[in-house]
Amino acid sequence: MGLLAASLLAASASAEDFAPKAELPAPPADVWVTVDKADLAAPGFPLSGDPVAESGGAAVYRAKPDMLPVLAQWTHERFNRCGGFFTHETKASALSALRPTAAAPGGPYTLDQQAVVTPMIAAVREEKIRATIVALSAYQNRYYQSDTGVEAARWIRDRWAALASGIPGASAALETHSWKQPSVILTIPGTDKPDEIVVLGGHLDSIAGWGSGSTARAPGADDNASGIATITEALRVLAESGVRPRRTIQFIGYAAEEVGLRGSQDIAGKYASAGKKVVGVIQFDMSNFAGSGKKIYLLTDHVDPVLSAFVAKLVDAYAGVPRAETRCGYGCSDHASWTKKGFPSAMAFEASFDASNKDIHTERDTLATSGGDASHSVPFAKLAAAFAVELAKAAPNPSTTASASR
Ligand code: BES
Ligand code: ZN
Repeated sequence: MGLLAASLLAASASAEDFAPKAELPAPPADVWVTVDKADLAAPGFPLSGDPVAESGGAAVYRAKPDMLPVLAQWTHERFNRCGGFFTHETKASALSALRPTAAAPGGPYTLDQQAVVTPMIAAVREEKIRATIVALSAYQNRYYQSDTGVEAARWIRDRWAALASGIPGASAALETHSWKQPSVILTIPGTDKPDEIVVLGGHLDSIAGWGSGSTARAPGADDNASGIATITEALRVLAESGVRPRRTIQFIGYAAEEVGLRGSQDIAGKYASAGKKVVGVIQFDMSNFAGSGKKIYLLTDHVDPVLSAFVAKLVDAYAGVPRAETRCGYGCSDHASWTKKGFPSAMAFEASFDASNKDIHTERDTLATSGGDASHSVPFAKLAAAFAVELAKAAPNPSTTASASR
């Protein structure tokens, strides 16, 4: 695979996202493309001129957006792969993706845990994911100010505690806030780098349209029982594998996302104040509605481009489905709270933004609306398990070590 695979990794929202629209559409702005330097030497490379920057095995080109399909077609024909380049909306984003991963806040990110991850993800089960979605969407709602919103958080805490009961030192806790609903944090302590933290998260609350209050029906099956179910299944296969992580892994169900990312802002703020070392965060918010077919979409805005490029590699290696990119255009979920505090964060999403589930935030966000099962979430759970192990790394298996030394 090319050093840099296909992506449209953009920088965080900039002022232009909020600028009033001019009457006449402006000509499309130039983009910055990072390409594998090996590709430059290949005949027919479609971008002209010199790269604006080079480092290691990669180079950055400034290009007109209408060159992107040409470049995609060329890499596809030439290398029989999709993409092989990343497109960035700003030069700063391209240059940050170019810098050696050692300079990334949480890097370097390396993919070397296949022997552990491959059998682990083979154990992912659709019916387990479905059962969590069914259980969570059975609450009248999971609103941040309702009793059922608190009960749902406790249910998740209890479920995670049960799943992790065989992991030495693991603990599940409620993280309280200034409002009623707590967040949930399951911690698996790292064996030799316990102060370095890998976070897998999703929001646990639901809402039925703004101003609907704490009694309205809000099943939130896709938004976001699916994300909680996805990371819960990753926790299950991780626990059953017997693998111990070298770094600490935390599974977080965030409270009060639907009312302004409040739980995650509170938690990311506390982590920043405490000087915690977070090597990578992945957010799962809506994974079960296959609006763009069987693919994983990686968000390109309000995320860390280096971590997102690594997550793209994890999708290719482990998820068993193709990937694509999309953008919200605003800080649409809890990954944005971490990004705002300077922690590297990424988000995996069910579809392109435009083709995603239109029934969220209504009583129609049920499992039936997402096709009646959890099959679309299966590759997301594999990605989640892979993210946990590839970022935290497996400690040497004590039983293997013991038998090897006998
Ligand atoms: N899951 C949604 C975000 C989302 C919706 C992403 C549709 C992509 C497509 C999330 O729960 C949500 O509703 N976020 C709010 C923003 C937040 C700051 C209140 C939103 O999108 O309005
Ligand atoms: Zn929502």
